[in-house]
This record gives sequence, structure tokens and C-alpha cells, in this order.
Amino acid sequence: MIQIAIDGPAGAGKSTIARKVAAQLGFLYVDTGALYRAVALHVLRAGAAAADTAAVTALLPSAHISLRYENGLQEVYLQGENVSEEIRTPQVSRAVSAVSAIPEVREFLFGLQQQLARENNVIMDGRDIGTVVLPQAQVKIFLTASPEDRAQRRFQEMQGKGQAVSYETVLADIRKRDEQDTHRAVAPLKQAADAVRVDTTGNTLEESVTRLSRFIRKKLGL
Ligand code: CDP
Ligand code: CDP
Repeated sequence: MIQIAIDGPAGAGKSTIARKVAAQLGFLYVDTGALYRAVALHVLRAGAAAADTAAVTALLPSAHISLRYENGLQEVYLQGENVSEEIRTPQVSRAVSAVSAIPEVREFLFGLQQQLARENNVIMDGRDIGTVVLPQAQVKIFLTASPEDRAQRRFQEMQGKGQAVSYETVLADIRKRDEQDTHRAVAPLKQAADAVRVDTTGNTLEESVTRLSRFIRKKLGL
């Protein structure tokens, strides 16, 4: 099976680009952030604090999370309910980094991610795919852009959905999440030694997709 790992901070364009390239190549696109977001939603629904390791760990056995693919799109289910929209709220975004820093949570989601990569050609995006989940991936990309560019992209996305939020809040949230994801003890966000760094600051989405798609095809000899 072929494995493509894309890691990087929030708003770098990982999911948008990976989804398009997966469609071009006929690979399965796996958004691993959605799994962590589903755990965070489960924790919030139970009224527990995201940083409460004991409470979060105790909630894991009751978190029934699965991915389903509908028309090639990944949908996330929690307790049999499609929560693909709900996991994108600012509340979940604020809770998810603390939940993800808990080793038991990472262990809980590890097997599912590896199974998907065993059974399919995948483009998987996240924070630790090239370093921890798929260290043998044939292609590893570390996708990044300036925090301001990434916040601007996210801000526009949220405005498009009619969510009332300021650019400053989005930027502050992104900086905080970068900080937490980079400095945690287990599986922190960092570039794998054999990953190629791609900075998309100032690029349009089309430019990023073309760049990444060319790079991946060349690397795989396609
Ligand atoms: O889409 P966005 O970049 O905002 O974030 P995401 O990919 O949905 O990931 C949400 C959060 O989950 C990240 O900020 C990390 O804290 C965590 N995560 C992780 O720890 N490991 C992964 N492989 C993927 C996500
Ligand atoms: O998955 P990740 O958090 O890395 O980013 P995303 O969810 O794909 O969000 C990136 C947003 O920025 C999307 O709305 C893209 O359309 C937009 N964008 C981009 O991805 N790349 C660019 N070069 C310019 C804009």
C-alpha cells in the first residue's frame, strides 16, 4: 500500500490539498484531526474538562468513533451520529489540543489510523503522521504557512459559514493551538527528518494544490 503523510499546523491547507490530491490519485483521504476532535466533543458533551487526564481517560471506553466514506468524503461518527459539522465549532477547536496531549487518547486512536493505512492507499494528514503513525510513508510533507496567513484563511472560511468571529480571535486561537501542539511531551508537531517542508505563505489554493500534486506524483513515479 502507498502512504502519503502530510503534517503541519492549523490552517496550512493540509486537508483541502490532501482531499484534492487524493481524488486525483484515487487514494483514501484520512483527516486524523477529525478523530481527535470527535474525542474532544465526547469529552465536552460529558461535561468534563479537556485537560483532566483522569476524566478524559475514563471517558475513552464509551467513545464510539468511526470514519465512513460517503461519495469519497470522510464523515466522522460519534455514538452512531454524524458529527462532521459539530467537531468544527470554536469550542471543540479550543478543547482539542489539551485532549490530544493525553497519551491514552493518542493510543486509543493509533490502531484505527494504522488499520486504515494497512487496507488502503492513503493520504493522511495530522500532526504526527510522518513521525509516529506512518514512519514508513513513501512521501512525507510538512506543510506550513505564516500564522497570519493561516488565520486569514480560517477567518474567511468561518465568515463564509456565517460564524461570528473576529480575525484577532482566530489568530490568537491558532497561535495557542500551535504552541500546545508543538510543546506537548507525546507526539508533538514537528517535521520528520525525512519530510519535505512546503511553505504556502502567499500562495493561492490552486498554486498549493499544483505544487503538492506535482511533487507527490514525481516522488511516486506517477
Ligand atoms: O484542521 P485543523 O488544522 O484546525 O486541526 P485538525 O487537523 O482538525 O486537528 C485538531 C487538533 O487535533 C490539533 O490541533 C492537534 O491538537 C490534534 N491532532 C493531533 O494531535 N494529532 C493528529 N495527528 C491530528 C490532530
Ligand atoms: O487542514 P489544515 O488545517 O492544514 O487547513 P485547511 O482546513 O485545509 O484550511 C485551509 C484553508 O485555507 C482552506 O479554506 C483553503 O481553501 C485555504 N487556502 C489553502 O488551503 N491554501 C492556500 N494556499 C490558500 C488558501
